Amino acid sequence: MPTPFYITTPIYYVNAKPHLGHTYTTIAADCAKRFHAMSGGETFFLTGTDEHGDKIVKAAQQQSVSPKTYADQISKLFFDLWPKLNISYDHFIRTTDPDHISIVTQILQKIFDAGDIYFSEYEGLYCFGCERFYTERELVDGKCPDHGTKPEIIKESNYFFKMSRYQAWLIDHIKKNPDFIQPERYRNEALAFLREPLEDLCISRPKSRLEWGITLPFDENYVTYVWFDALINYISALGYPDHEKFKKFWPAAQHIVAKDILKPHGIYWPIMLKAAGIDIYKHLHVHGYWNIDETKMSKSLGNVVDPGYLLSTYGTDAIRFFLMREMVFGLDSSFSETTLIERINSDLANDLGNLFSRVLAMFHKYFNGQVPSVAAEIRNGQKADLMDDAYSTIDEFKQAMEDFAFHKAIHAIWALISKMNKYVVSTAPWELAKNENEKDRLGAVIYNLLEGLRVIAGLIYPIMPETSHTMNSHLGQKDKTFFTLEEIKRWGAISPGENLPKPVTLFPRIDPKKLNQKKSSGTEQKQKVPKPSLGLKPEISFEEVLKLDLRVATVIHAEKIPKANKLLKLEVNLGGEKRTIVAGIAKSYTPEEITGKKIIVLANLKPAKLMGVRSEGMLLAAVTDDACSVVTLDNPLPSGTPVK
Ligand code: MSP
Repeated sequence: MPTPFYITTPIYYVNAKPHLGHTYTTIAADCAKRFHAMSGGETFFLTGTDEHGDKIVKAAQQQSVSPKTYADQISKLFFDLWPKLNISYDHFIRTTDPDHISIVTQILQKIFDAGDIYFSEYEGLYCFGCERFYTERELVDGKCPDHGTKPEIIKESNYFFKMSRYQAWLIDHIKKNPDFIQPERYRNEALAFLREPLEDLCISRPKSRLEWGITLPFDENYVTYVWFDALINYISALGYPDHEKFKKFWPAAQHIVAKDILKPHGIYWPIMLKAAGIDIYKHLHVHGYWNIDETKMSKSLGNVVDPGYLLSTYGTDAIRFFLMREMVFGLDSSFSETTLIERINSDLANDLGNLFSRVLAMFHKYFNGQVPSVAAEIRNGQKADLMDDAYSTIDEFKQAMEDFAFHKAIHAIWALISKMNKYVVSTAPWELAKNENEKDRLGAVIYNLLEGLRVIAGLIYPIMPETSHTMNSHLGQKDKTFFTLEEIKRWGAISPGENLPKPVTLFPRIDPKKLNQKKSSGTEQKQKVPKPSLGLKPEISFEEVLKLDLRVATVIHAEKIPKANKLLKLEVNLGGEKRTIVAGIAKSYTPEEITGKKIIVLANLKPAKLMGVRSEGMLLAAVTDDACSVVTLDNPLPSGTPVK
């Protein structure tokens, strides 16, 4: 009996809409689950949302709604997105679910009773983005390596979890189980981390500072939140401690995360489980980041790619394929829409799509859509071309999928596609068709090609379930959603004499020019993928925006600045006060054109000298490499009016 398989994604914070990074992890988990179902085992796939903590409260405040209302709205975006990507999860957990809260409380009490939670005062550097304290050593130039922000010094009395007590045990476990954390680079990272003394983990917040968490069972003035709350989702979703699901699936638990949360998953979580007397999970699979321009795609940097846009433009299977094919699991990858289009056109439309329609077209032409009878001999074990190649592809695919090396699994399938294309060229069915004596040979060649397609259709199921189904139903294999590896490895499954439907186009080629036209004529969804060159600046807080004093100003005089062909010197009226501003707008505006315009000026900018002229502010303009357009008012409000 194959062992059960339990796979989880991180539960995503509800302070941001789902983006391509979350999408990647969730698709990877889905592929792993579908693959294990193909291997014949029982599977359970968990995803969900992480809803407590400071940053959710802050995000809710910005929208003027309660944290729960806010969490409901954002959680629903994740909940609604996954089915569109054919994500076949079994349970969607929310940390605000009453069952989850009750299990967190139970476990806290258990660890408290065992003496591993104590009360103490602590002062430390706290990153609100990560919701955790940092040591000086972990910071890069004094800033959080993930958020690029300076952590704040926080001093308060809190409850702490004695992680240090389990450090030696964890080192030993990781050393004895080389595949506990994979790929190896992250195992090494965890071990390197454990070479330093492990600090105890702060697990609480006083309610006077944060209420949006789970009340501690042993002190009602405190809540726990984030890691002690979130990590427990992996067992609360299974009905720890007594439910059948927990007993069946927990021993088989495998987590997928990106490297940002290696430490909570590779260190805090096994120690929490150990302290609570629960067996630890089996494997942690850690992947890299999707980057834009070398920078991690993240909400806080504002450079996220919207999966909804990609889906509606390119389709579910193409996106699933691209993400799994392009990223080497464990390493970072750069997202580019151009590469996405290239992959769709070359790998999907050209290689896979063409082979499928070419083979089926020949089959319909030479055999009128009826599976040739020679198939019977092949079914009965006659040596068949392509069969050995197909079987070794199945073995390679299996190994790669077990290792979470999705790109390698895809590579193995595409190597078979390439061999089949070469087989078409070397056997030249169109030549065989000219000779009546070659009818049997032609039948065998076409049948072997149909069988090769069947193997491919079976193997692509975890990555592209819809395409797998379409291909299979054109090969007479329509009774099942998917086929086990054993079933796929039975050369001769297509029945002789059966009539098969005409082919369809699996993946139409994408013409980038037409796509751009569609986008600009507005027939596509308006949301755009940020161009890699967009390079948005780091997010700033509302308080920081409030520091900018923007005012309406009237340009009363303008003149060129000698020897500075880009600059104009402007005299502006700021409402009872005149200012001089040097602006780089001379390539787009003559002094006459700008004079008299109502513009917007940043009035509290520290003065600076430009080409010998003191500039006492800055105007707002949209700027490209060779042009600019000054922001003006379409309703003439008085100079000095604040801009908010
Ligand atoms: N709520 C915590 C996780 C608790 S799990 C018990 C959290 N949430 S998160 O919304 O920030 O999600 C982080 C995860 O989202 C990453 O570990 C990864 O799975 C995915 N990704 C977010 N941005 C990503 C990239 N730019 N690239 C790849 N994956 C990314 O951390």
